Amino acid sequence: MKLEEKDISILFSENEIQTKIKELAQKMNNYYQGEEVVAICVLKGAVMFAVDLVKHLNMPLQMEFIRLSSYHGTTQTTGKVRAVDITLPDLNNKNVLIIEDIIDKGYTAKFLVDFINCNFHVKDLKFCSLLDKKVARIIDIDADFYCFEVQDQFMVGYGLDFDEYYRNLRYIGYIDKNILK
Ligand code: IMP
Ligand code: MG
Repeated sequence: MKLEEKDISILFSENEIQTKIKELAQKMNNYYQGEEVVAICVLKGAVMFAVDLVKHLNMPLQMEFIRLSSYHGTTQTTGKVRAVDITLPDLNNKNVLIIEDIIDKGYTAKFLVDFINCNFHVKDLKFCSLLDKKVARIIDIDADFYCFEVQDQFMVGYGLDFDEYYRNLRYIGYIDKNILK
């Protein structure tokens, strides 16, 4: 399906996103109180968010990147999460902050939390997501930190893709379900 940028309705502008990220970083700075953190960015979707967020965090911080995939060129999650690259350092006794683009049905978030807890005894594990599509949730899991709650629309931009395109948009928008039919 061919999609054009005019089919995307803007939901959050670049300005709104950056303001929200600064507010969120402030909450995190208060929460961690200068304690060291390992931030894990979930590629590819969370890359823009993670990079902008960590610039406002003031504790000693390490960045790690893992790559998962649950979409295969469509707008539906399959429920199966594919670990493309999940190489991580020793996270025992660390404060771990997972940074995701969106929690939709919740499969990916659950997979990640279980993966970390099965492999390490972390000191603290927090899940942070740019977007939270609460209405679509199937798995009972919540973000500890998030920027925006969204409705059950397909979201693109600022890291989120439609068939690998539009990650580079500076805003976040949605594609109307009727267009996707
Ligand atoms: P879940 O496993 O159903 O929670 O889906 C989470 C993953 O699917 C995210 O990491 C995204 O990569 C992708 N995803 C879910 N909803 C959207 C969306 O509206 N736009 C783009 N990607 C999405
Ligand atoms: Mg993702």
